[in-house]
Amino acid sequence: MSLATRLQERLRSTLGGGAPGVALPVPPVGFTDGTVALRPWRPSDGLDLSALCDDPEIHRFTAVPRDYPAREAAGNAAFAEEQRLEGRGVHLAITDAHDAVLLGAIDLAVSGPDRDVGRVSFLLGAAARGEGHATRAVRLLEGWAFRTVGVGGLELRPQRENAAAIAVADRCGFVRGTDGGDGRVTFTRPA
Ligand SMILES: CC(C)(COP(=O)(O)OP(=O)(O)OC[C@H]1O[C@@H](n2cnc3c(N)ncnc32)[C@H](O)[C@@H]1OP(=O)(O)O)[C@@H](O)C(=O)NCCC(=O)NCCS
Repeated sequence: MSLATRLQERLRSTLGGGAPGVALPVPPVGFTDGTVALRPWRPSDGLDLSALCDDPEIHRFTAVPRDYPAREAAGNAAFAEEQRLEGRGVHLAITDAHDAVLLGAIDLAVSGPDRDVGRVSFLLGAAARGEGHATRAVRLLEGWAFRTVGVGGLELRPQRENAAAIAVADRCGFVRGTDGGDGRVTFTRPA
C-alpha cells in the first residue's frame, strides 16, 4: 500500500468518514481575513507540504506519516477534491495572504449527509507558529462552515496533552466537553 493510500486510510478512520453524501461547496476564491488565506490544495504544493510536515509536533499529534515525500504530498490535492465531491470533508491549505507562502493545513470533516457535525483539524509548519495563524484559520473556516456548508455544530478533538491545539480551541470560543477514553478532549461550538 502506498504512503498516500496509507495516509488517506488513516485520515478516513481518524475523521470517521461515514457514507458518502452530496458534494460539499467549493470554498470561495479570495477566502481570506487579510492575514491568512485558505485555498484548495494543488499538486504543486507537494514539496512545501512535505517539508512543512517534517516536524516532531506534527508527527506527535497528527496522522501525517513520518516519511511523507513530496511525490506523495502532491497527491493530497486529488485526495482533497475526492473528499469534497463525496461530501466527506474539505481540506484546505493555509497560506500567507500577502506572499502566498504555505503556512499549514486545515480540514473540515463532515459527518453524515445531514452535516450535523463538522470536525475541524489543523496544523502549522514550525516557522508559522506563535502568530495566531491557526486561530485565524479556524475562525475563517468556521463562518463558512456554518453559513455555506450548513453544519449544525463544530467539533475539535485535540489530544489531552496537546496544549497548543487546546489553546486554539479556547481562543476560538469552543466549549470544553468530555475527556474521551481515547486520550482526546472534545471541544464543541454550536451554530
Ligand atoms: C496546534 C498548532 C497549529 C497551534 O499553533 P500556534 O501557533 O500555537 O497557534 P496560533 O496560530 O493560534 O497562534 C497562537 C500564538 O500566537 C500568538 N498570537 C500572536 N498574534 C495573535 C493573534 N492575532 N491571534 C491569536 N494569537 C496570536 C498567541 O499569543 C499564541 O502564542 P503563545 O503560544 O506564545 O501563547 C501548532 O502547534 C501545530 O501545528 N502543532 C502540530 C499539529 C497539531 O498538533 N495539530 C492539532 C491537531 S488537533
